[in-house]
Amino acid sequence: MYRSLVYPILSTLEPERAHGLALKSLRAAQATPGGLAILRCFAGPKDPRLEVRAFGMTFANPLGAAAGLDKNADAVAALMALGFGCVEVGTVTPRPQPGNGKPRVWRLPEAAALINSLGFPSNGAAAVKERLAGKRFNGILGVNLGKNKDTPAEKAPEDYAAVFDALKDEMRYAVVNVSSPNTPGLRSLQSRRALLDILAAVDAVNRKLAKPRSVLVKLAPDLDDAQLDEALAGALEGGASGLVISNTTLDRSVLKDQFPDRPGGLSGAPLRDKSLAMLRKVRGKVGKRLPLIGVGGIATAEDAIARMKAGASLVQLYTSFVYGGPGLPGQVVRGIYEFVKTEKLRSVEDIIGAQA
Ligand SMILES: Cc1cc2nc3c(=O)[nH]c(=O)nc-3n(C[C@H](O)[C@H](O)[C@H](O)COP(=O)(O)O)c2cc1C
Repeated sequence: MYRSLVYPILSTLEPERAHGLALKSLRAAQATPGGLAILRCFAGPKDPRLEVRAFGMTFANPLGAAAGLDKNADAVAALMALGFGCVEVGTVTPRPQPGNGKPRVWRLPEAAALINSLGFPSNGAAAVKERLAGKRFNGILGVNLGKNKDTPAEKAPEDYAAVFDALKDEMRYAVVNVSSPNTPGLRSLQSRRALLDILAAVDAVNRKLAKPRSVLVKLAPDLDDAQLDEALAGALEGGASGLVISNTTLDRSVLKDQFPDRPGGLSGAPLRDKSLAMLRKVRGKVGKRLPLIGVGGIATAEDAIARMKAGASLVQLYTSFVYGGPGLPGQVVRGIYEFVKTEKLRSVEDIIGAQA
């Protein structure tokens, strides 16, 4: 119904407005008595065989909502009701900021892709905290940490630590985002030295907690081998708990057809193979020392399973949700469940790294 009825209407709206409307509807549903129960009709099965233990916690299933989908934590309960085992809100910046000028999101429906140059529009850490304070969720909440555009690179560690500090009580894990292409200079923070400084600043807050949070690092798929080695050294030496592979790409060679070029990061189907290849490469370099979350072009259970076999403990998606609608997370989880049953697996965890 979404694909034949709702998407055709949403697609007549400017992409960012359509996304805002979809989030508003989810927010309204979660605020309405019985609303979450209706959304749960879309979700996939719950089964202990779908559970994944990673980063010191148990995820009900391996599928998460990727950062950017719910930047300001408007619809966390609703997204979890739709079947995501985990929602990574953000990127959250310390102070509110508007992001780049519009238009800044473009659909490429023929390619099942999006291009965005949002540049971290964020309500800011205090507003996100207020929205989340005291709420309990039926799933795991991660927070993607970012820096304000006008914060110079040398002060970046303070920004990441500030967002972490503001939201430490709400989050189960944090992701240091140094890989969005739309904030000038952000990707240069993937160097070993910069990552060490950021992770040290976050850790100074984290180590004071009774139960320190897992802190992951999200990388770009456009790093060359030397840059990747630098980033991995920074993450390992800085004590990161894991990696998110990957953010959007600036590479347009992955697009098979010609599209009018737009500035920003490309996501969705054309990113799939590139992101999978990077995950496999990272797994080859770090082994099991850093658990991985695989993201980029995942749209089906087969995509999710392939990513896990290549070494991902968990997977996330964003762009396929835009095209697939509210039934998509349930569909993916259902497909993984069928696979687990058919293969007579004790747990979906058994496939992690099986073909790394
Ligand atoms: C419109 C849009 C906004 C995004 N915003 C963020 C963000 O704020 N922080 C972040 O780490 N990643 C962000 N991403 C990247 C996604 O989290 C994900 O890494 C990427 O889109 C690849 O996954 P996909 O192909 O399933 O969309 C964004 C992606 C899109 C399409």
